[in-house]
Amino acid sequence: MPLIECFATRIYSARLMRAAAQSFNRALRDECLQLERDDAAGRRWSARNYPGGYTSYASVHRLQKLSPTFAALEHKLERHVRAFVAAAQWDLAGRPLSMTDCWVNIMRSGAAHAAHLHPLSSLSGTYYVAIPAGAPGIKFEDPRLERFMAAPPLKAGAAARNRPWLTLGARPGSLVLFESWLRHEVPRLRDGRGAERVSVSFNYSWF
Ligand code: NI
Repeated sequence: MPLIECFATRIYSARLMRAAAQSFNRALRDECLQLERDDAAGRRWSARNYPGGYTSYASVHRLQKLSPTFAALEHKLERHVRAFVAAAQWDLAGRPLSMTDCWVNIMRSGAAHAAHLHPLSSLSGTYYVAIPAGAPGIKFEDPRLERFMAAPPLKAGAAARNRPWLTLGARPGSLVLFESWLRHEVPRLRDGRGAERVSVSFNYSWF
């Protein structure tokens, strides 16, 4: 068929480690919950900006520099970041793509994270630490959506690559990487049944 498909949008989804991640995730989860208890400034910020949850985004956001557990996460992410860079064919000209931010997100029943970008970064992503059954994943939006003026509707069952949104499930031990300009959101956690949805997000910059 004489059809060229171009302008790829890459979303990388993989398991962090080849081996089971249970003990690593337990340590990470304990540190995330401990950080919430210790970080009064972050709890105040979250009460205003992240209702139903806690994020250290505005208070403690260089965790890879503060904690050996988060430094280990940074190290485990390296091969995945390299794979993304290779697939995108980025020429980093010898300069490293380095982790600039790494922060904790804890969502409880009712929490949601509205659609957003990660400005001032090149590559962003999330690692899933603890996810209650039925908790939402991450929803991505076609970056061309605002230009879809008279696009006809899609057939039921249209291929994922043709749809304007893609939702990926969140599984403990898995990670997702995407370019920082790609708009995404976490739909509302309707019923966490008392369990927290715990994830760690990060940004990489080349500039
Ligand atoms: Ni985000």
